[in-house]
Amino acid sequence: MDEKLPPPSPPEQEAQLQSERDSRRSFLMKVGLVLNSVIVLGVAVPLVRYLFAAVGPKKEFLRWVALGDVSSFREGDTTLISFENPIREAWDGVTDKIPAYVRREGSSRFKVFAINCAHLGCPVRWFPESQLFMCPCHGGVYYADGSRASGPPERGLFTYPTRIENGKLLIDAGQIPTFATQARLLQEIKPCPQPSPKTGKPGTSDFTTG
Ligand code: FES
Repeated sequence: MDEKLPPPSPPEQEAQLQSERDSRRSFLMKVGLVLNSVIVLGVAVPLVRYLFAAVGPKKEFLRWVALGDVSSFREGDTTLISFENPIREAWDGVTDKIPAYVRREGSSRFKVFAINCAHLGCPVRWFPESQLFMCPCHGGVYYADGSRASGPPERGLFTYPTRIENGKLLIDAGQIPTFATQARLLQEIKPCPQPSPKTGKPGTSDFTTG
């Protein structure tokens, strides 16, 4: 026959209850600590990155991006292209593609226009029939060389600095050219040497900002 154990005495019952309460409390405390740590990290990491981003090297995004072979652009043509934004993140998807217009003005003379209207930034469209860029928002119009023709914009289209290297057309794509960046670009980016009239070698460069 089973021998029945005597029921625990009231002090023993109290001690058992206390031990259960302690272990539940310590478990909840640990869960709380983990959750709080995750939240603190979630807030602190972007904040710290933001603060230290200003201290890091500022020119790392000033990158020359190849738009394609020089020979792929016909002289006198204006072509809509897109290039990958050098300031992209892995999760940007297709939004890291930046459109621009490439105009070949001569054998080694190019202009690359930002697509955004110099008025309020709407994307302009190129009309080869009339040789004009037109803005759908407020009727801004630009000539083929990007200069202002009519409408509210007070200046021509912004252009990227360009150069030619190893038969490829490159632009400094680190930032969208705007009023704010254009003056700094002129200071920071040294023009590449012009083609030597004696040798006329490839790898020549044509530097423009507009
Ligand atoms: Fe182009 Fe206003 S945004 S004319």
